Amino acid sequence: MQTVIITGASRGIGRDIARACAAKGMAVIATYRTGKDEAQALVRQIAEDGGEAAALYLDVARSDTFAAFRDEVRSLLADRWGAGALGALVNNAGEGGFEPIETFSEKAFDALYRVHLKGPFFLTQALLPLFAHGGSIVNIGSATTRVASVGVAPYAAFKGGLETLTRYMAKEFGPRGIRVNTVAPGAVHTGLAGGIPAEFVTMVERETAHARVGEVEDISGVVAALLGPEMAWVNAQRIEVSGGYFI
Ligand SMILES: NC(=O)c1ccc[n+]([C@@H]2O[C@H](COP(=O)([O-])OP(=O)(O)OC[C@H]3O[C@@H](n4cnc5c(N)ncnc54)[C@H](OP(=O)(O)O)[C@@H]3O)[C@@H](O)[C@H]2O)c1
Repeated sequence: MQTVIITGASRGIGRDIARACAAKGMAVIATYRTGKDEAQALVRQIAEDGGEAAALYLDVARSDTFAAFRDEVRSLLADRWGAGALGALVNNAGEGGFEPIETFSEKAFDALYRVHLKGPFFLTQALLPLFAHGGSIVNIGSATTRVASVGVAPYAAFKGGLETLTRYMAKEFGPRGIRVNTVAPGAVHTGLAGGIPAEFVTMVERETAHARVGEVEDISGVVAALLGPEMAWVNAQRIEVSGGYFI
């Protein structure tokens, strides 16, 4: 049974990636930070649907906790699924907000950096020993790295860093048979940044070929498919999933 860790799976896109992966027969480790009840409800739902899942606490901004998290994952894999290795990782956890460069605070900048770039880098490094030969990593990027949108400059810059890191990970992990890709969603209806502002929704509808904001299901199936064996030759790619945003 393929095992997958999805960070930030208590809500939004991550939760639906967890559902989609479980539906494809993967054993899911869904991480939460504040949303313990939501994560446990997700685990129950997956079990009711006949799938396999467990929830673990993880704050991706706390790289000092990653070694202990790896030990927890190793025990869970062995005790629950008799698995000696991890099959996949989705670096999804994230947060955001709209604030122009002129007034963006250093504190908020550092917080975004920890969650969107430093966290995925050191979490992936920490979990690397759990991968056997082979495996798949998906980093969740953003369409904001391709098209500049007012108010999300640091977020987009760190997502851009993560997208670059994807190619470097693919290069360095290639000899171990691990594939690494970016899935870059366009705007999606979730609770991120307290929801998408109305004027942003109007702009996205106007500038998207399919003339709407995305839903979590538009993203999750792509990630689950990318982790599967049918996509085994797709590596080091940035796949934008945005319905045709600014084309
Ligand atoms: N929504 C969009 O329009 C959009 C577009 C492009 C890319 N993305 C990206 O997609 C990913 C998921 O976003 P979303 O829209 O699904 O957001 P969301 O609904 O707000 O969910 C965010 C998830 O990330 C978790 N999280 C936040 N900070 C964390 C931290 N420090 N440590 C661990 N977990 C943390 C949250 O956990 P708790 O609730 O348990 O604290 C939650 O599960 C993010 O990387 C985001 O940047 C979103």
